[in-house]
Amino acid sequence: MSTVIVSQDELLRYNSLIPSLKNRVAALSSEHGHPMTYRVKTYGCQLNESDSEKIEGILQSIGLIEASEEAIPDFLILNTCTIRENADIRLFGNLGAYKTHKKQNRDMFIAVCGCMMKQQENIERIKKSFPFVDACFGPSDIHLLPQILDRKLGQRKRVFSVSEEDYLVDDTDVPVLRKRKFRALVPIMYGCNNFCTYCVVPYTRGRERSRSSEKILAQLRELAAEGYKEVMLLGQNVNSYGSDKEDEISFAALLEETAKIPGFSRIRFMTSHPKDISEEVIYTMKKYKNIERHLHLPMQSGSSDVLKRMNRHYDQEQYLKTALLFREVLPEATLTTDIIVGFPGETEEDFQQTLNVVEKVRFDSAFTFQYSRRPGTKAADYPDQIPQDVVTERFGRLLDLQNRLTFESNESVVGKTEEILIEGRSATAPDVLTGRTNSNRLVNFRIPEGISYQGKRIDTSAPDFNADDYEGKLAMVRITRAKPYSVEGELESFIDE
Ligand code: SAH
Ligand code: SF4
Ligand code: F3S
Repeated sequence: MSTVIVSQDELLRYNSLIPSLKNRVAALSSEHGHPMTYRVKTYGCQLNESDSEKIEGILQSIGLIEASEEAIPDFLILNTCTIRENADIRLFGNLGAYKTHKKQNRDMFIAVCGCMMKQQENIERIKKSFPFVDACFGPSDIHLLPQILDRKLGQRKRVFSVSEEDYLVDDTDVPVLRKRKFRALVPIMYGCNNFCTYCVVPYTRGRERSRSSEKILAQLRELAAEGYKEVMLLGQNVNSYGSDKEDEISFAALLEETAKIPGFSRIRFMTSHPKDISEEVIYTMKKYKNIERHLHLPMQSGSSDVLKRMNRHYDQEQYLKTALLFREVLPEATLTTDIIVGFPGETEEDFQQTLNVVEKVRFDSAFTFQYSRRPGTKAADYPDQIPQDVVTERFGRLLDLQNRLTFESNESVVGKTEEILIEGRSATAPDVLTGRTNSNRLVNFRIPEGISYQGKRIDTSAPDFNADDYEGKLAMVRITRAKPYSVEGELESFIDE
């Protein structure tokens, strides 16, 4: 694998196919008697979400419109993840169902892309067992989509276009359809160089490629001017931003420059690696109030022994030092983590170390995973794999502990009034809104009687009330109750009427 920077000329060549694709889509629409629709289904992490926004940008540029939730789309793209085995099982489980859809609509276009496509055995399986899949492409091939569509629609042959190369296409050179009107996902780098021994990402996403800070900052200024309130800087290890380039600024500097741009009220970043995060990042967070009061710092294990075999390049002591410094500098902030239970060779003593660190740091929440053996990774060949019953038992104990800590963390904010960025209607009821505090805590809240917005009284029981109208607004919300994974509250006032 090697990094290939895609030139503007080459991109122009792909993008020059768009007008003719648009004509083909228009012809299909009139043939079928309705506008051609699409759906992109996204599995996996925020990087995949960001990729899907680009795929949607390209699909809309050729005249497709998003299918309604219940409808079967004419163009279906499945953007896959392969981080754990159950991600693969889910895709293959779902894929069979689309065969009937394709039977009903012979012109239906089905493509599978994303991280699973970087594994040859998955492509072979699709070639052999899922002949109704029209195209496969890899996570760094999104800019090739116009060419893939052109080949498929023109020659009616299946297209398998997963490149060996790690392409670097600048984000601003492909169309993007942002799914949330308040949030912009902005990758600052692609790929990963860390080769943690359990992880497939370095194999699926290739080597680290940082975007130029000049381009990132220009894009961010534009996004702020367009009215985005929240920006999420994305990368597998944002703290090593720029290290693959000469004369590039550090992540702390990039964060600071982002914070200085007027307009954003929430600057978020994912993911930080404990081996690379600098104290400067923590102090930059302290200095700028528009940087989220939240750090996601995946620990993976509390045992130095296990961490060594995971190839994480930090030990328990170093992790604790960073976590406790963060707690000291930003006591009002939340600290969250990822933990893997049952890594090969994990002893009961190792697991106890994890529980001890969790108790000491008191994570505000954690994503906990059972170790999943990923073909091709180093740990898959480690001899001392842990039996499933042991993993399940340990996992249960960790979950019990973390659930208690998460609940206690939620309880600690009851009675406080916090600034919320409203995300829209909650999943619980149509008159309940959902949003996040500046420390990324999920809040479901009601608007009590007597609250006005832009001089008009809000009546949440009125037939024309739509919680989604408030998406992207900032409000002060009093937290009234702690729940296991969220808090409840009541809106006091809007900030930016
Ligand atoms: N780049 C990020 C993590 C990306 S993957 C980082 O280094 O922190 C997200 C999480 O999935 C990881 O933090 C890890 O906890 C989990 N994960 C990755 N591979 C896994 C595997 N083989 N089994 C179980 N969990 C895994
Ligand atoms: Fe995977 Fe480790 Fe890279 Fe994160 S840093 S993506 S866990 S290899
Ligand atoms: Fe999954 Fe790929 Fe993200 S494997 S977690 S979609 S980088």
